[in-house]
Amino acid sequence: MWYPLSIAALLVQAVQTPRVSVRCAWDTPPFATPYCAELVPTPDLTGVRGMLELHWVPTPFGAAVRPDGQLRHRLVARLEGLPPAPSLGGRVYVAWGYNLSHSQEVRLGVVRNGVNDLGELPFEYFRVIVSVEDAASIPRRRGRLVARATSPNSLMLSHRDAMAPMLTSSAPTDASGHEHGAHGGEAWPMPPSDPRIAPAAMQHTPPSTPAWRPDSTGREVLPLRPREVIRARHGDTLTLSAGLVRRMIGGRAIVAYGYNGQSPGPLIRADQGTEVTVRFTNRLDVPTTVHWHGLRLENRSDGVPGFPAPAVEPGGAFTYQLRFPDAGYYWYHPHVREDAQQDLGLYGNISVGRPSPLAVDREEVLTLDDLQLDDRGLPMPYGADTASHALMGRFGNVWLVNGEPGWQGRARAGEVLRLALTNAANARTFNLRIPGARLKLVGSDVSAFEREAWVASVVIAPAERYVVDVRFDSAGRYALVNEVRWLDHMRGTTMPAVDTLGFVAVEASAAPTRAGRRFGVLAGDARVRREIDGLIARAPAVARHTLTLGMRLSNVSPQTVAMLTGIAMPMDWNDAMPMMNWALSAREVTWTMRDESGRENMGIHWRFRTGEVVRIRLVSDPGATHAMAHPIHFHGQRFVVVRRNDVAVPNKAWKDTALLPAGESMEILLELSNPGTWMMHCHVAEHLGTGMMGMFEVVP
Ligand code: C2O
Ligand code: CU
Repeated sequence: MWYPLSIAALLVQAVQTPRVSVRCAWDTPPFATPYCAELVPTPDLTGVRGMLELHWVPTPFGAAVRPDGQLRHRLVARLEGLPPAPSLGGRVYVAWGYNLSHSQEVRLGVVRNGVNDLGELPFEYFRVIVSVEDAASIPRRRGRLVARATSPNSLMLSHRDAMAPMLTSSAPTDASGHEHGAHGGEAWPMPPSDPRIAPAAMQHTPPSTPAWRPDSTGREVLPLRPREVIRARHGDTLTLSAGLVRRMIGGRAIVAYGYNGQSPGPLIRADQGTEVTVRFTNRLDVPTTVHWHGLRLENRSDGVPGFPAPAVEPGGAFTYQLRFPDAGYYWYHPHVREDAQQDLGLYGNISVGRPSPLAVDREEVLTLDDLQLDDRGLPMPYGADTASHALMGRFGNVWLVNGEPGWQGRARAGEVLRLALTNAANARTFNLRIPGARLKLVGSDVSAFEREAWVASVVIAPAERYVVDVRFDSAGRYALVNEVRWLDHMRGTTMPAVDTLGFVAVEASAAPTRAGRRFGVLAGDARVRREIDGLIARAPAVARHTLTLGMRLSNVSPQTVAMLTGIAMPMDWNDAMPMMNWALSAREVTWTMRDESGRENMGIHWRFRTGEVVRIRLVSDPGATHAMAHPIHFHGQRFVVVRRNDVAVPNKAWKDTALLPAGESMEILLELSNPGTWMMHCHVAEHLGTGMMGMFEVVP
């Protein structure tokens, strides 16, 4: 039975509900996206239909999370055909939220036919129930059930039911110490087991590429030394070499890589607008390059092999010309086999410009990273021909801040410490917090934010930078933690995980500094706002290109495909299937970006002119096999993320890398300011290594 809406009811709707764009079509199959769930009416209500949509919550980061890493969504219920409430024995319809066990109930508010904004729920997995009640203000549900929906992520729980028998029957016993050399070359150790998640249900054979570690025979191995600061002035020539280093991790000496014997490599400080020359020598056992991530420099110095210079062979040299048109924090790393070379320690920061002493007392430039050790405490080898861990990327089990496990910083109470963070990890997105301290978000990759903002945590994806100011109000020891929700893929459940990356020791002091006294004020950056407003004003309304992100599997069993299909979690905070992830390489996995013409990966070659601003839409296909979050980087230019999931981003900054969670969409305005042939790619090292990259050309 259908009840037409009266005009008056429509008008009330228009006044009461904010404009929300529709995220889910009525014919969306159940669980087809992580954002849509049918609100199923009871069988007697044949004329009623409903949809529960999970909408985007504005955030300056790639993903909106609660401090513990749980994803945030604004719930919107769309309802049609509800009969007048009295016909069901009540006066109003009310929506309620529950956790899955129904032990907690939250009143979400009155709902009607149309679009109903229900706000946020504190539960990760949840149900929404619509009931008919006697009064709008009723505190607990009493009336009859009208419709119900279950959060789309609860599909993971049915996964648990399917996997449960395997957990008890065929799970491998402790595999540590077993060697697997099935493919020749060095033997592969088993990947580390993590007591927090269930072991894999099946025994996997090692990746189809031989194991590889750096070869130090006949090469100089320098003892690792602390990072030095190079103050580079206009016209200076710096020397940089990549080579082997000996370093201690977990009480063991290991052979890794470094720049000038350091990891991170030297911190290069320069003034905006200056230029310097870097004479680079390769003392590694493998070819390499240096890519200066985020710098709008000359194309030939970008460090991408073949664009146009080839990689630098062992013993070879190359001269890079750097220029620094934008203040901000940048970083450098190889653009050859990042999964191995960058992971072995080849990365360093560049700081362009200086924070105002009025705002900041002290600055720490910090790289966040992780390293994977096997169950014997030795670093996991890398694939000899191509990346292992090609599914999710290599997640480490040792946390490194500026290359050190257990990093220690210092500060004084009442002063303002600026943390310039770079995520140098292969695959891990961090949700960084400092419990007990307030964080003020001030900047990102290539500029300050339009407005400073208080944040409870910093969500930072591989290659992104975020700049936060922090004031510690009293003396003590403050932990730097990564706080996230870990997925246990086999059990289909999540759990809290808090890992400590380091500490800041805060000494007492008599009075706050000048910067400390101003800390409570949130400033805006008028220059950045003007630039971005100008960019938006020049930008076309329609996207010139659309990139759809996905993945393809080949040479794998149907069971593996089944296990990886249709269970998109918007964010992957951990490696929830370490065995399968490790065992897959580029032979099995191809990560893809496809444009509107159907061209894919290196088949993409877009052409632009300098001075153009183009709108590019990026879509992560929620139906893709194992859709994941991808940090997408454009070389040689800067861009602004202006819309996410069809909602305008309220607080923006210039970026060179932006995170797109699984199943989501974003629109960027790319400013074509720098001629050359450039890459765009996912910055998860193993995704880049297994295809997820394209090209664009900027002609004068
Ligand atoms: Cu930081 Cu193409 O990379
Ligand atoms: Cu990716």
